[in-house]
Amino acid sequence: MSDEPSQETNAEKLAELHRREALAEQGGGQAAIDAQRAKGKLTARERLDLLLDAGSLVELDKLATHRARGFGLEEQRIPGDGVVTGHGTIAGRRVCVFSHDFTVLGGSLGEVFAEKICKVMDLAVRMGVPIVGINDSGGARIQEGVVSLGGYGDIFARNVAASGVIPQISLVLGPCAGGAVYSPAITDFVLMAEGTARMFVTGPQVVRSVTGEDVSAEELGGATSHATRSGVAHVTAPDEETCLADARDLLGYLPDNNLEEPPAGPPADDPDREDPDLDAFLPEHTNQPYDMRALTERVLDPGGLYEIHASWGDNLVCGFARLDGQAGGVVANDPRHLAGVLDARAAEKGARFVRTCDAFNVPILTFVDVPGFLPGTEQEWGGIIRHGAKLLYAYCEATVPKLTVIVRKAYGGAYDVMGSKHGGADLNLAWPTAEVAVMGPQGAVSVLYRRELEQAEDPEARRAELVDHYDRELANPWRAAERGYVDAVIPPRATRPQLIHGLRFARTKREVPPARKHGNIPL
Ligand code: HXC
Repeated sequence: MSDEPSQETNAEKLAELHRREALAEQGGGQAAIDAQRAKGKLTARERLDLLLDAGSLVELDKLATHRARGFGLEEQRIPGDGVVTGHGTIAGRRVCVFSHDFTVLGGSLGEVFAEKICKVMDLAVRMGVPIVGINDSGGARIQEGVVSLGGYGDIFARNVAASGVIPQISLVLGPCAGGAVYSPAITDFVLMAEGTARMFVTGPQVVRSVTGEDVSAEELGGATSHATRSGVAHVTAPDEETCLADARDLLGYLPDNNLEEPPAGPPADDPDREDPDLDAFLPEHTNQPYDMRALTERVLDPGGLYEIHASWGDNLVCGFARLDGQAGGVVANDPRHLAGVLDARAAEKGARFVRTCDAFNVPILTFVDVPGFLPGTEQEWGGIIRHGAKLLYAYCEATVPKLTVIVRKAYGGAYDVMGSKHGGADLNLAWPTAEVAVMGPQGAVSVLYRRELEQAEDPEARRAELVDHYDRELANPWRAAERGYVDAVIPPRATRPQLIHGLRFARTKREVPPARKHGNIPL
């Protein structure tokens, strides 16, 4: 080692730091940034500025560069290597982040890029804080070959290890193709921006050559397709800014990690406030639809529902809200879609949501108006049995406080599934309008009195009599109340105060399931 003093002055060394940092900050250079903007996209750093509290980003590995050779990569060693990583705060709470920089080699993932993401994921788990990843990438860096694939594998393994430990949120704000889609898919939430986000296992060209199908990238893997057809997108937004704001809002319902409670605000209004309008909220005719979202909004704190999968499995509403200032997960049948029945898609949607709430200590509030499971070959062959079982499993498995209100129908197996007492719910309430029975009156009368109706002089009049008898005897809340299957039948106006008191009472709930490696939830 030479003792010769460095020829560089301290000022020059400082200038060198600034030069390197500036290089990192300009990413792929002005032309690439212009191209990014021309596609309607923000840069990686602009996105983080919008996501995080102003000035809170603490960047890590800003000067990390790839070590790869060949294919001209030696000349493209850009500090940061195409991904900005670090930690900052959202509404004052700590969060780890990474943001792909498409201007550097198309945001493609090589060895060092992957190392940076793994490092910040490890940090998030160690500190017990959520991780938010912003995806905008051409996928595996082709020039780095199998090392890129290994990098993805390292990330996938971390996604799985962190699942249920810290909230993981993925924003897709550009391309996300090939095996790269599986990292967001393992995370808790995928948020996509309309117009720019594209997720697919294989792009339109490959689709065309393999199946002959002609489909655009937007149709194949855009936000709308994944929000309405595949269910891959939990939330979509009209633009990137809204998508980033949505991610901030979503974190407001989630704790830092599985050992913490979700953040609570002060009660928004009088916890004992009753709502007389609810007494007359339901239509007189039991088959008439009504707005279930409007019903839940009358019961919950002002601020509305943060819906998950709002355009997928429409017959079941799932979303986060607040009650008494506490975060809660709302699951509600929507009579305006398929009369609120459970089909395979709705069951899958509900199961995932219930499990997410349970993993992160978010109490589950269920509003029931379900005529049963949807019959037919399409549903049977589509796996309604295993999907329905999945929802049932998720409810029974959940150990968070579970509070259920039967507002109208609770028929058949769907009664058991939707947060029933038998599945371990902590508070089960019913409105006087509840109908809790094996099946609806028309179906029941057809099964029980088929022969009698065939022989009746006036079958219609006899049917009406029998239906009326069934309604009074079985399709009501009284039998369930007599048995304690519902804890109370309440005037609709009292729903909010009753749920608030139930939620406060359940705050200390402890339920320790027997030790096992893990259950085997139906697929
Ligand atoms: C290296 C890449 C790259 C990649 C893009 N670039 N993808 N470089 N590896 N995977 C480079 C381009 O060469 C280009 O460099 C720059 O990024 C911008 O790309 P453009 O094509 O000009 O951008 P755009 O027109 O917006 O198209 C974006 C794109 C397209 C749709 C993503 O680039 C594309 O199809 N890329 C390949 C996608 C792909 O098949 N990836 C592999 C998926 S499989 P210059 O120098 O011209 O600016 C995969 C496996 C993961 O990822 C497995 C995990 C287990």
